[in-house]
Amino acid sequence: MNFETKVALVTGAGQSIAGSHLSGIGQAVALNLAKAGAYIFVNDWNADAAERTVKMIISQGGQAESVVADVSDENQIIATVDRIQAQHVRIDILVHCAAVQYPVSLFDLQADQWRRVLDHNLFGTFCVARAVAKVMKTQNADEDRSRGKIVLLTSIHDARPRVGKFDYDAAKAGVSQLTRELALALAPDHINVNAIAPGAICTPMNIILEQDGVDKEAIKKIPWGRMGQSDEVAKLAMFLLSDDADYITGSVIPIDGGRSLV
Ligand SMILES: NC(=O)c1ccc[n+]([C@@H]2O[C@H](COP(=O)([O-])OP(=O)(O)OC[C@H]3O[C@@H](n4cnc5c(N)ncnc54)[C@H](O)[C@@H]3O)[C@@H](O)[C@H]2O)c1
Repeated sequence: MNFETKVALVTGAGQSIAGSHLSGIGQAVALNLAKAGAYIFVNDWNADAAERTVKMIISQGGQAESVVADVSDENQIIATVDRIQAQHVRIDILVHCAAVQYPVSLFDLQADQWRRVLDHNLFGTFCVARAVAKVMKTQNADEDRSRGKIVLLTSIHDARPRVGKFDYDAAKAGVSQLTRELALALAPDHINVNAIAPGAICTPMNIILEQDGVDKEAIKKIPWGRMGQSDEVAKLAMFLLSDDADYITGSVIPIDGGRSLV
């Protein structure tokens, strides 16, 4: 796939654990897009993490720079999008991966955690997608072709309940519905909005889960017999971002080794 001339913003694309062999999904997407020729704006709220990904891209011959911002802070996001537009005039691609999760039991879940998770994971998604769509809407495109592609990250737990992730799963249910709402609103402008719903993927986010032994239990429930890799999720994103996917919009696509079948 050729993404030369494309300008991409990938949120949550930092390597959050220095020296880790595990890539987050955002980092894997950024590396794949850069390898295919796109100019990458690497967003993370952790400046060191964002810089680590930028260095990896540049060392592999790609082009990237970091844009540090908290996706749930609308002013920071508008400033980020303004900066990209000022430099490159257009934004062709948004892949929104930034999210947080904290394990908690039902009766310990405090209001401030609930609000923080919904703010970062759901409002943050809305903020970034809306700010980028506003730019995409004004862009030229060949007749009937896509003006811009947005891929959001939800979860198979948007509709599959589990114990201990009340705030995170409720936010992801919101992200899946927001995907459909945005796709409907933006289809007349030929802006694609789709979501990827991963099952259990080996990323730094899951190292935290590993400490509770949750991973081993999770693997037993996966028909394919293993967790997914960030790169496998990135490859799906690459297809959704390609010219071949112009007619796909409003889809929420699972990638889970069959986990959602059982
Ligand atoms: N890993 C999985 O198994 C899994 C499963 C289902 C869904 N997902 C979703 O995929 C996406 C990526 O997950 P991951 O496992 O790669 O996560 P990760 O924790 O490895 O990476 C997320 C990155 O986002 C950054 N971030 C968090 N909040 C931010 C904010 N408010 N502003 C800017 N940056 C922020 C973090 O610093 C981190 O670098 C998330 O939306 C996650 O919910 C992951």
